[in-house]
Amino acid sequence: MITLDLALVGFGHVGRRFVRLLDERAEQLRREHSVECRVIGICTRRHGTARNLAGLDARAAASLVEEGGSLSAIDAPDSMPGRLAAVPPDGPTFIRDLATAAHARQHGRMVVVETTVLDITAGQPAIAHVKTALESDAHVVTANKGPAAFAYQELDLLARGAGRGFYFEGAVMDGIPIFNLVRETLPAVKLTGFRGVVNSTTNYIISAMEDGREFDEALAEMQAAGIAEADPSLDVDGWDAAAKTAALANVLLGARLTPQDVDRTGLADWSGARIREVAAAGRRVKLVARARREGATVSAVVGAEELDAADLLATLREQQNALVLETDVLGDVAIVQLGGGLTQTAYALLSDLVALRRTLPFA
Ligand code: HSE
Repeated sequence: MITLDLALVGFGHVGRRFVRLLDERAEQLRREHSVECRVIGICTRRHGTARNLAGLDARAAASLVEEGGSLSAIDAPDSMPGRLAAVPPDGPTFIRDLATAAHARQHGRMVVVETTVLDITAGQPAIAHVKTALESDAHVVTANKGPAAFAYQELDLLARGAGRGFYFEGAVMDGIPIFNLVRETLPAVKLTGFRGVVNSTTNYIISAMEDGREFDEALAEMQAAGIAEADPSLDVDGWDAAAKTAALANVLLGARLTPQDVDRTGLADWSGARIREVAAAGRRVKLVARARREGATVSAVVGAEELDAADLLATLREQQNALVLETDVLGDVAIVQLGGGLTQTAYALLSDLVALRRTLPFA
């Protein structure tokens, strides 16, 4: 049995669902994977910070935040050896402080769980959090698209050099395995490209408009479900899909793209009437993400397309997503997500922890 010390940076919908899922699955993780997880710190932008080297009651912390309380009420800096700032000034300082304290007890078992909000201009502060973690000898699991979408090659190199894990399954299609699946199960297969529907919010809006409902109403439902981005224009204008496309291209096709390099359009030109006209003609509008490798160049595009009704991507309703991997040996391989949401994103973090645990020696 080994114990992982988790430091959570960001504690929004996904982070809070994650700690509850971790608690619900604790027994199974112990039994089947010989791993226990102890949350030793939570750092937020608006709800304060809590640290306790003996382990925090993370479920109670989630309730506290949901009731509008501050995590400083359960902060226990005295549990840490050495001198700690009364209130860590920022995420990187929080990570460094905690890593020093955690490594003094057991080296190489701290994991930074990064779930801050996606920043589409540069992927910060998530990239700084990942870098600081790896430079502090901590592993990283993140549901944030920023690190893989803006800095995958650099961070991957850093992680390999440090001998630490860097996992980000939740960046695309929630908990449905894409990155872990390719890494673990497609050895010696060359990917030449991919196409997919990777944004749930826009797919839900398009489905609703096909059914005669209003854009605003559908978007509000996705916001209420915690699925739309904090700034929903990131979904509607195709930025979220562009970030996922860049992440997929960087990791699976060896590209060095940023979301800004993706040729991107959103739903702005697609009124309900126009979407229903296409449906009446037996076709379906979808926000499609595509990338293709030609020689040394990878090009990527996100935009609304009119698809033949028989196309796999055209059959996706509401929040459903799918990705078709184009490969040399296996031809097209499709992965479909029929149900998605917060729990599935939280599960991605949990599955990454297990993927990490498998690389660690049995103790
Ligand atoms: N806003 C995203 C979506 C959440 O709608 O797909 C999952 O990345």
